[in-house]
Amino acid sequence: MKALAATPKLALALALLAAPAAALAGTVASPDGRIVATLDVDNEGKPFYQVSRDGEELIAPSSLGFIFTDAAPLRRAMQIAEESTASVDTRWEQPWGERRFVVDQHNELAVTFAQRDTAIIGTGDLATGGAAAAARGFTVRLRVFDDGIGLRYEFPGDPEKPETRIAEELTEFVIAPDRVDGSTAWWIQAGDWNRYEYLYHETPLNAVAMAHTPVTFRLEDGTHLAIHEAALVDYSGMWLQHLGNGRFRSTLAPSSRGAKVVREGAFHTPWRTIRMADDPAGLVKSDLELNLNEPNKLGDVSWFEPSKYIGIWWGMISGRWTWSQGPEHGATTERAKQYIDFAAEHGFRGVLIEGWNLGWEEWKDYSFTEAFPDFDLEEVARYATDRGVHLIGHHETGGNIIDYERQLEDAMALYERLGIDVVKTGYVADAGGIIACNADIADPCEGMFMEWHDGQRQVQHHLRVIEEAAEHRIAINPHEPVKATGLRRTYPNWVSREGARGQEYNAWGAFANNPDHEPTLVYTRMLGGPMDYTPGVLSLMGSDGVPMASTRAKQLGLYLAIYSPIQMAADFVESLAEHPRELEFIKAVPTDWAESHLVAGEVGDYAIFARKDRNSQDWYAGGVNDATERMVTLDFSFLDPGRSYRATVWKDGENATYLTDARHEIAYDSFEVRAGEEHTFRLAPGGGLAIRLQPVG
Ligand code: NOJ
Ligand code: CA
Repeated sequence: MKALAATPKLALALALLAAPAAALAGTVASPDGRIVATLDVDNEGKPFYQVSRDGEELIAPSSLGFIFTDAAPLRRAMQIAEESTASVDTRWEQPWGERRFVVDQHNELAVTFAQRDTAIIGTGDLATGGAAAAARGFTVRLRVFDDGIGLRYEFPGDPEKPETRIAEELTEFVIAPDRVDGSTAWWIQAGDWNRYEYLYHETPLNAVAMAHTPVTFRLEDGTHLAIHEAALVDYSGMWLQHLGNGRFRSTLAPSSRGAKVVREGAFHTPWRTIRMADDPAGLVKSDLELNLNEPNKLGDVSWFEPSKYIGIWWGMISGRWTWSQGPEHGATTERAKQYIDFAAEHGFRGVLIEGWNLGWEEWKDYSFTEAFPDFDLEEVARYATDRGVHLIGHHETGGNIIDYERQLEDAMALYERLGIDVVKTGYVADAGGIIACNADIADPCEGMFMEWHDGQRQVQHHLRVIEEAAEHRIAINPHEPVKATGLRRTYPNWVSREGARGQEYNAWGAFANNPDHEPTLVYTRMLGGPMDYTPGVLSLMGSDGVPMASTRAKQLGLYLAIYSPIQMAADFVESLAEHPRELEFIKAVPTDWAESHLVAGEVGDYAIFARKDRNSQDWYAGGVNDATERMVTLDFSFLDPGRSYRATVWKDGENATYLTDARHEIAYDSFEVRAGEEHTFRLAPGGGLAIRLQPVG
């Protein structure tokens, strides 16, 4: 790996560095020159970075550093030992996604910071003292793209002290003080009881508390920023603590092991990222985090087919059926066959079946291979295969990853044998409620330790599942997961995840996900990557008939607003069948795109995308609205020039509103359109829009 190859050089530089600080300071600009970033030390020897855009400070000097559980901090009395630069201008192809090709153009600066004078930091922890102590330090690798920056720390490893135990990472993100007032933030709280399933707060930037990333800011001048991380591997997830006045600092998810992160030998942290854009479209279009992830490690993944699925699911979520055995058991052989028949008739590739396996009575001690007596797994799998349908497997763990890891290989082998190539996993437990072993004790499973859904142990667990699944040619879609940080590039079988408040909440209370929710997800959670939101509840009803804060057209618009390479049609099959014209759209809409563009929208208000099918010449346009009725004029200049298209439109009825039974009112339209033409559409309160555009002739 490039970063680690630099290690001997780093060690040499550190060893040679005995005397006064060299007057080095590194600056690097984005390829278009608009973003300029600096890495330097201040007069106390504190390493920091700073970013300006269009000549104006955007990120004020922001400290870099660490505190450890068993060594002196690395945060001040440091000096620059070495620096190097590099540039990349390339393009790579995604096996599936929102766009086929991703452009990676960036300039890089790597600066090695070394501890200058151990006496100043006054600690006895540096037992080795002298030369070894002077050799402590890290390299910060900073990449500057036209749409933002990423930086990470690289530790060279120390033969005298093979383990690094991080108590806290001290990376700051300081919004330039004169740009804090008048700025808005969209965020969810970190360190609270739930994982990520909250409605978003829309507050002044200065009112953010402790936030999960991605967190999105709109500055007063319209600049949009999103702070996040890329390539979260073998490390704890980063929360953002607001220290006041727009000054944020990393807080790593805690661990029961005392240190928040424990690593051996040379290693690097995930990338800390800041997207920077002039408008919401620029924010959404950025591939910053994907570009900062390693290329595909799995080779040919053409066995994964982006596709749509139905499932024995909404029945349990809405309380009509049960996951466990009994008179209302959802996953019976008979019902599974009924769903497979529906999938075969309507061209859905997948059928998700939850609650087929032992353990659901108490939501614990699950078996991932043994079925309830009323569910004949072998027979159901054969029935599906005969009809060209693929079952989607389900592994709910209840957060007990010890149990799951023990059964993992057998469970994946079983699914592979049955032709099941997508598995939804689940970690239902409060945040901090992951049941794990402690790797620090002799028998790692002697004791149980509670970990966070985004702590280092769970981050390791997810990759273990992904790698085991890949060996069996299985794709994974975790619910209650760790956040998405672009690892789908490296592991393209990590196809989707939940990790936000999904449609299921709409089953549990009237207007549970308020109409703002989805047009906020687009500009926040979705910056991380695909989400299994489970759209397509055409009945617009949850448990006991509770109404959803959605018009019928919005259920279609969700397929265009919230991307996932596997998309569910979540409703009961009877309900899907009752709405043949809407079903026609759901059947047609692709799950793999050649290109995607946000063509109209504002954070938290509305989001309209235009996307081109990767497997045909068709375009699609549409999306979702918040509670405010609005007229949106779409400029069809995204269409391929010189061609006419037949537009088939599903839109909110004239009086549609999520607030009354008029939420069911949908209108249809059809017309011819060419690039450059404009059409105006009404988005109802809680409404949406879906348009299919097929070339004519
Ligand atoms: C919560 C998930 O979000 C949902 O999709 C799943 O059905 C249940 N847990 C049970 O695993
Ligand atoms: Ca709004």
